[in-house]
Amino acid sequence: MIKPYKILQIDDLAVIQQGILDLMPIETLLEKKMRGTCYLYETSYIFERVPALATFFKKIGLENPDSIKIAMLFVPPRRLGPLHIDPPDFATYSINIPIINCDNTFMHYFKSDSPGEKMIYEAAGKKVWTVDFKLEDCELLEIQETNKPYIVNISIPHQYDNSQNDTHRYMLLCRIKRNDLIADAIAASVFN
Ligand SMILES: [Fe+2]
Repeated sequence: MIKPYKILQIDDLAVIQQGILDLMPIETLLEKKMRGTCYLYETSYIFERVPALATFFKKIGLENPDSIKIAMLFVPPRRLGPLHIDPPDFATYSINIPIINCDNTFMHYFKSDSPGEKMIYEAAGKKVWTVDFKLEDCELLEIQETNKPYIVNISIPHQYDNSQNDTHRYMLLCRIKRNDLIADAIAASVFN
């Protein structure tokens, strides 16, 4: 079985979290009534504003900002996300970094023989797509509490779960470009 995720150690986690909160405060996200995935800035700009994040990626060999797409995922309280896989056109793996209110939030992983259904929707003015699955077509593999940084295979059906909380869950999603030799080597070393 392919492992869906692995916890990562990030030494400067608190500095990165504060840097992201300074760049995009929770109040601003609430004012904009943002929800769901949101690609707000170029990675090079985020690296400039949050140097500790750039340092972390440099340490694991990913210093080229073009190798990474960053999204700020802001999930409303009491929300269970769609059961889906992410578009395979850019990334197979994502490094997800909890920013705030991520305790008692979860990711559920599934396996399915169903091809799923392609869904197109809009996020931050851009058309994005996922392949969504029906719960009855899936078998639950594992549940992970998502309060620590982790690398995840987003081609495995998954579903975020903030259903038990009264706060917005704020997570940074760093998608790693496919067919980038370094990125693929990192993923292979993590998952094998
Ligand atoms: Fe996803």
